[in-house]
Amino acid sequence: MTEAILLVGGKGTRLRPLTVNTPKPMVPAAGVPFLEHLLARARAAGVDHIVFATSYLAEVFEPHFGDGSDMGLHLEYVTETTPLGTGGAIRHVADRLRSGPDEPVLIFNGDILSGLDLTSLLDAHRAAGADVTLHLTRVEDPRAFGLVPTDARGRVLAFLEKPERPEDIVTDQINAGCYVFNRSVIDRIPAGRVVSVERETFPGLLAEGAHLLGVVDDTYWLDLGTPAAFVRGSADLVLGRAPSPVVPGQGREYLVHDRAEVAADAKLSGGTSVGAGARIAGGARVDGSIVLAGAVVGPEAVVRDSVIGSRAVIGPRTVVDDSVVGDGATVGADNELRGGVRVWCDTTLPDLALRFSADT
Ligand code: GDD
Ligand code: MG
Repeated sequence: MTEAILLVGGKGTRLRPLTVNTPKPMVPAAGVPFLEHLLARARAAGVDHIVFATSYLAEVFEPHFGDGSDMGLHLEYVTETTPLGTGGAIRHVADRLRSGPDEPVLIFNGDILSGLDLTSLLDAHRAAGADVTLHLTRVEDPRAFGLVPTDARGRVLAFLEKPERPEDIVTDQINAGCYVFNRSVIDRIPAGRVVSVERETFPGLLAEGAHLLGVVDDTYWLDLGTPAAFVRGSADLVLGRAPSPVVPGQGREYLVHDRAEVAADAKLSGGTSVGAGARIAGGARVDGSIVLAGAVVGPEAVVRDSVIGSRAVIGPRTVVDDSVVGDGATVGADNELRGGVRVWCDTTLPDLALRFSADT
């Protein structure tokens, strides 16, 4: 059996206002808090003990997941009073690990949806005798990530976190946010201060000549850090394009909670999910979107590639496209929200207040 550390202390700034009341890993994707997909995947790969490294809104994790026994897991929670960064967070939970110095520990960024075979990552780590193994993926624009060039045998040559100089864009291989660390490497991270695993630990290990292995995997991969990525990931889970052991009947057009109400002539499509107690009124169309618990989508409203926060209300005929409506917000009738608009939690937008077109 293997143990794992889950990095879930980030503020989720880019996802606001979705992360005002809920930490990023707990925002529902395909009907359940995103983290459930990650935990189920870890469990399926034989992980039995997981330590949560929490900070922002730390108090919500334990009431939801408890000791993990109903998922066949043993879960523990450790909170940083001030955020210690990714490396500091890993070091901060080290005393909860049970592995010996040469045993591998999995580490996950808490916002990644991926199809990586975790067992084969662990196998590659052991076979190479690496100190650290990194899951890598290829993306079109690597600038928002950690760039990780490797040699022909997969040995990591450099780690360049979010490089700004054009000459540093040396590869399309990026850090996919899942690592195997030998326990002894974790214990050597300095304790009690902020450490970035990406900016300090990896470059430091490379400078000492440590063996860092990169495993490039081209299966499904998405960082759910932005609203557009979050709705994409949730829809892909529902549609069956992204793998998860906890999505019922993968490969559906939409997923509706048992306690949601959808009018007979409403149209749901594109991997939409509708949460508990939500209502979709007659003539409404919801495509590729997330409608959270208790939200209301009014008659003839159109919601596309968007998130409607819990208890939010979308008025009749209003269009919400590529936008986020925060928890408890009310958007009146005949509005048009487009292009990345973020309506903050508990605010009210009157009828016919915001339009992108002249006709009403
Ligand atoms: N406990 C704790 N404390 N967790 C933290 C802290 C902290 O101070 N800071 C960040 N985290 C957690 C976040 O909650 C998230 O799960 C993870 O660490 C990564 O943070 P993000 O804020 O999502 O980072 P990113 O997406 O910009 O970049 C990271 O992920 C990329 C892949 O998605 C880096 O690891 C990049 O190198 C990588 O390419
Ligand atoms: Mg991220």
